[in-house]
Amino acid sequence: MNAPFNLDPKFLDTAPVSVANACLETLLKSIERNRFLPEPDPASVFVGDGNYRAIGTEYLGHYVRIGGLKPTDRVLDIGCGIGRMAVPLTQYLDETACYEGIDPVNEGIEWCVQNVSRVYPNFRFCRVDIAHELYNPGGAVKGSEIVLPFGDAKFDFVTMISVATHLPLEEIAAYAREVSRLLAPGGKLFLTAFLVSEGDPDRAEARPQFQPGAAVGSWIADPAAPLGAIGFDMPLIPGVLEEAGLRIDLVSPGHWRGMESAHYQDVIIAVKPEDAP
Ligand SMILES: C[S@@+](CC[C@H](N)C(=O)[O-])C[C@H]1O[C@@H](n2cnc3c(N)ncnc32)[C@H](O)[C@@H]1O
Repeated sequence: MNAPFNLDPKFLDTAPVSVANACLETLLKSIERNRFLPEPDPASVFVGDGNYRAIGTEYLGHYVRIGGLKPTDRVLDIGCGIGRMAVPLTQYLDETACYEGIDPVNEGIEWCVQNVSRVYPNFRFCRVDIAHELYNPGGAVKGSEIVLPFGDAKFDFVTMISVATHLPLEEIAAYAREVSRLLAPGGKLFLTAFLVSEGDPDRAEARPQFQPGAAVGSWIADPAAPLGAIGFDMPLIPGVLEEAGLRIDLVSPGHWRGMESAHYQDVIIAVKPEDAP
């Protein structure tokens, strides 16, 4: 069953904030505890270190609290990996919502089709053969020329978690244009990134420890694998989002730089203006 708690937007709009928050906290706890939810073999989780379920649940909380995700939203997950966000979203989005996940890595897409779409047919996954030097070397489509297989204004919420942290700026810019096309007016992009400000790379507690990359304004952790973790000077990603016609609603600094925060990577929330053409 989807949406087991009263997270109906009509209820959330009228409920006192404390009640809505309590419902969300209860839902998040029950997702973390629910051993019936599918979880891939840890050896096949290629989307990063850390606890698969805990990180997915944490980000669902951020989607709702700071991104305003509604249970009825049409969601696009760019770089969905092996379903880390899709699994907790099955417990939040209701039957009228839909979720589309795209990724270049077949293994993750197949796992999601078998384990998520089979039970939640409104969750769909699609492999797109986008080239990436680490994740999909030899892919047929250049990231800077990406056109996703969806019609205009089809989504209310687009998410890119830990994806812009592996892409050159021109590929982030290509996605910004696509996201601007794909969002309905008023729709939101929730994107995580490493936004590097003066002093961040010098902080001993920062993880990763960045050094200047070859591209102007870029910061990399490992010169042997520059796209293993890449950051950009603070204004660059917000700049390409604005150029694509999105309005920056929030930039929330993450604790990667060694300062306190509720999330590790920086979060940008950008909105497609209501009066967008
Ligand atoms: C660190 S993982 C994050 C996966 C997922 N978003 C999550 O948080 O679990 C990065 C993902 O980006 C995908 N990826 C790499 N290049 C991509 C591209 N050009 N477009 C979309 N996804 C890409 C990878 O295949 C991988 O699944």
